[in-house]
Amino acid sequence: MDTTAHPTTPTAHATPPHPPVAVITGASRGLGLELARALAADGWHLVITARTATELAVAEAELATRTTVVALPGTVVDDDHRAELAAAASRLGGAALLINNASTLNGAADEWAEPLPALATIPLPDLLETFEVNVLAPIALSQLVLPQLRRRGGAVLNISSDAAVEAYPGWGGYGAAKAALDHASAVLAEEEPELRVWAVDPGDLRTRLHQQACPDADLSELPPPSSVVPAFRTLWQDRPASGRYRAADLAAPADLTAHTGLTAHTDPAAAPAGAGAGV
Ligand SMILES: NC(=O)c1ccc[n+]([C@@H]2O[C@H](COP(=O)([O-])OP(=O)(O)OC[C@H]3O[C@@H](n4cnc5c(N)ncnc54)[C@H](OP(=O)(O)O)[C@@H]3O)[C@@H](O)[C@H]2O)c1
Repeated sequence: MDTTAHPTTPTAHATPPHPPVAVITGASRGLGLELARALAADGWHLVITARTATELAVAEAELATRTTVVALPGTVVDDDHRAELAAAASRLGGAALLINNASTLNGAADEWAEPLPALATIPLPDLLETFEVNVLAPIALSQLVLPQLRRRGGAVLNISSDAAVEAYPGWGGYGAAKAALDHASAVLAEEEPELRVWAVDPGDLRTRLHQQACPDADLSELPPPSSVVPAFRTLWQDRPASGRYRAADLAAPADLTAHTGLTAHTDPAAAPAGAGAGV
C-alpha cells in the first residue's frame, strides 16, 4: 500500500493551538493574585481558588477583563474541591501549569491564636492543619492534575519559603511543612522527568500572611508581591530545569541557574546578608 500518496493536512494548521491553562491556589490576593495577573497578561486561561468567596470574586472580575477565568471558592484541604479544580482545568482544555501557592502560617482556626507558636506548645490540630494545607493538599492536587500536565509536558510550581531551610524560632510547623513540600517537589521531579517541578522561595514580601506573622511590625519597607513577578515569569517562559530556586536568583541578570540546572539553594550561607526570619 502506498502510504505517501495522500499526505494529510497538518492539524496544527487546521486547529489553532488552545491557550495554555494554569491552576493557581490562593489566587485571591498576595503572591497568588500577582502570578494570576502575570499569566493572564501572557495569554493563559486560569482556574483559581481561595476560601473567601467575596475576595475571590473581586480577583475573578479583574482577571476576567484579560482572560478566561474560572473561580471556585473552597479550601484546598477538601477532596471534592480539589476534584472540582482539576475538572474545571480539564474543561478549559487541560492544565499545563499547577501553582500550589495557598498556605497557612500556623493552621489555627482561631484568628487570635499565637501566630508563631513554639514547637513545645503548638496545638497538634493546628500542626496537622498546617501540614494538610501546606504539604498534603499540594501533593493531592498534583495527583489529580498530573494526567493533564503529562499530556502537555507541563509544570508544577510549589511555593516554598526560606523557613524551609532556616531554623527560625516559632516557625517550626510552617518551616517543617515547607521543607516537606520542598522534598516532595524534588522527588516528584525525579518521578516525572518529562515535566518541570519547581519549588521556589519568593523572599520576604508585604502580604497578609507576612503581617499575620508579625502583627506589630511595619512592613512598608518590604517589597510588594508584584516585585517578584519578573522572576517567576522566567519559569513558564524559559522552563528552567526542575529544582529549588529562590526568586532572587531567578531574577539575576546572568541567570546561570536557569540554563545550567544548578538549582539547589539550600546552603544557609547563600542567604542574603542580614536576612532575618521570614515567611
Ligand atoms: N509573604 C511572604 O513574605 C512569603 C515569604 C515566603 C513564602 N511565602 C509563601 O508565598 C505563598 C503566598 O503567600 P502570601 O504571602 O501571598 O499570602 P496571602 O497574601 O495571605 O495569600 C494567601 C492566599 O492563599 C489563600 N488560602 C489560604 N489558605 C487556603 C486554603 N486552605 N485553601 C485555599 N486557599 C487558601 C488565601 O485566601 P483565603 O484566606 O480566602 O483562603 C489567599 O488567597 C505562600 O505559599 C507562602 O507560604 C510568602
